Amino acid sequence: MSRRPLVAGNWKMNGSRDSNANLIHDVIFEVRKYPDVDVLVCPPAVYLDAVGRQLEGSAVQLGAQDLSEQPKTGAYTGEIHGVMLRDVGCTHVIVGHSERRSLYGEGNDKVAQKFATAQECGLIPILCVGETLEQRENGQTESVLAEQLGTVVTACGAQAFKQAVIAYEPVWAIGTGLTATPQQAQDAHAFLRAQLAASDAKIAGLVRILYGGSVKGENAESLFAGPDVDGGLIGGASLKAGEFMSICAAAAAQARSK
Ligand code: PGA
Repeated sequence: MSRRPLVAGNWKMNGSRDSNANLIHDVIFEVRKYPDVDVLVCPPAVYLDAVGRQLEGSAVQLGAQDLSEQPKTGAYTGEIHGVMLRDVGCTHVIVGHSERRSLYGEGNDKVAQKFATAQECGLIPILCVGETLEQRENGQTESVLAEQLGTVVTACGAQAFKQAVIAYEPVWAIGTGLTATPQQAQDAHAFLRAQLAASDAKIAGLVRILYGGSVKGENAESLFAGPDVDGGLIGGASLKAGEFMSICAAAAAQARSK
């Protein structure tokens, strides 16, 4: 099953008007070399509108890092609704990133609500799942992944993954410089795909599963080698155009060989 690779940049809480404009300028220019890769950037919410305008007419897509789980707009101070994200040009939104789970108390149920709201607004959710180091060392990786994915499958149905992306991000590899080995990544991806296949084999074969956690130009090609690895969710390395583009090059090279 050949799936089009996706490389998504998660800028987290970084950037400024000037630095974003420079970064996007370079990304738009370079991305034309990789027509077989879908490329997405996820700036902080306050910059989405400006970055979206700069991306107009380019192949680079726009995503948000989070959204409100509230089904309707209204009196929710500080929150941002999916319809607003759509309004400024977002096609995707990250849900359940481990930083949101651990620092802002988002549990599986809230993540599932966000996933559902995103889809109701016509956004493609990128559902992040991943185990902590302690969970891995205790042999709980699969049970953690099963629960994180399973909560969304139960709430929204396996069919919902027709318009969704999964990102496997081992928490211990995020921003630490540590990465999963290519085999650890492949094993987790295969596990997630099999879990979805138990509900709907066709959807499982179509859904893209990204790897995230200290992906760089130098390790991307080996991390993307696994047959179930369909690209990456890139944090730190997405803030430098050259590094981000070498990751896109790696995704393109792997897509050719799969
Ligand atoms: P990192 O972050 O590439 O900086 O490790 C990945 C992520 O959190 O999505």
